[in-house]
Amino acid sequence: MSFPANRPRRLRRTEALRRLVRETTLLPSQLVAPLFVCPGTGVRRAIGSMPGHAQLSVDEAVREAGALAKAGVGGVILFGLPEKKDPEGREAYDPEGIVPRALRALMKATPELLLWADVCLCEYTDHGHCGLLRGNEVDNDRTLPLLARAAVVYAEAGADIVAPSDMMDGRVGAIRGALDEAGRADTVIVSYAAKYASAFYGPFREAAESAPQFGDRRGYQMDPANGDEALREVALDLEEGADIVMVKPALPYLDVIRRVKDRFGVPVAAYNVSGEFAMIKAAGKLGWMDAERAALESLIGIRRAGADVILTYFAGEIAPRLAELAR
Ligand code: PBG
Repeated sequence: MSFPANRPRRLRRTEALRRLVRETTLLPSQLVAPLFVCPGTGVRRAIGSMPGHAQLSVDEAVREAGALAKAGVGGVILFGLPEKKDPEGREAYDPEGIVPRALRALMKATPELLLWADVCLCEYTDHGHCGLLRGNEVDNDRTLPLLARAAVVYAEAGADIVAPSDMMDGRVGAIRGALDEAGRADTVIVSYAAKYASAFYGPFREAAESAPQFGDRRGYQMDPANGDEALREVALDLEEGADIVMVKPALPYLDVIRRVKDRFGVPVAAYNVSGEFAMIKAAGKLGWMDAERAALESLIGIRRAGADVILTYFAGEIAPRLAELAR
């Protein structure tokens, strides 16, 4: 039985009807806001390719987190800009490093926010790669203990969640083991399980000053053409003890988000990355698109694809709007 008995437009006629049958929700609590923390006080260094975002000293990050908490945002994920970089990325696992200091301050100031710490060496190494080098290659196995050490340091400084983004094989297991041994069995691991080698990270590398000084990350991050391989990465990370698995970037990989959700039925996070944010902002600024509507539509699309949690640079501006829209 089809038209004229069936008229799908009936349920679209008014906002009240549309709201009645809306399938996907988007709540501030499902959003996580990335913050870039740097040394100093009173520092707010604007990031050109990411309007509204800045490198923030700890005191300014605390201020920012206060506003995010007030808007009901679920959490913040911290990226650190170290005092100085070296081949081993030492500040990544220094208990007095920038991220542990920020974590301690935020734990006091905004206990209602979940504190996520990104675990990777690329912001801390002078060569900008995500692990230790052996020649021009990233040495997987020698990198693992350093990542594990960083995760323990962040957990001890107050991180609820550690999120390894390096794409070394075996890092989830190494981190889980080290956390448990340190008496941190309750620290959650969100693994960047399916992280693709993506052009959409461009603005982030300006923000985090983490561009590789030679070569690229295709020797450890995934090939954008691969979907089955993402499922394999997720399976391995879950076996090693990941609590939540992430797909990154989000918009070019919505099919991957859906497949992960359908196959594994575990909590899935998606990272709506810097380039996805920058292109909407740029088009909005040029008057080519309504940036706020495009942002909302992107986030709803990511949720509809199967993501439970979204890491997004829109969190701070969209969360207050979500509350208004819900009324
Ligand atoms: C670090 C890391 C990156 C991002 C998150 N963690 C950059 C990269 O892999 O080069 C990208 C986030 C974004 O673009 O918003 N390994």
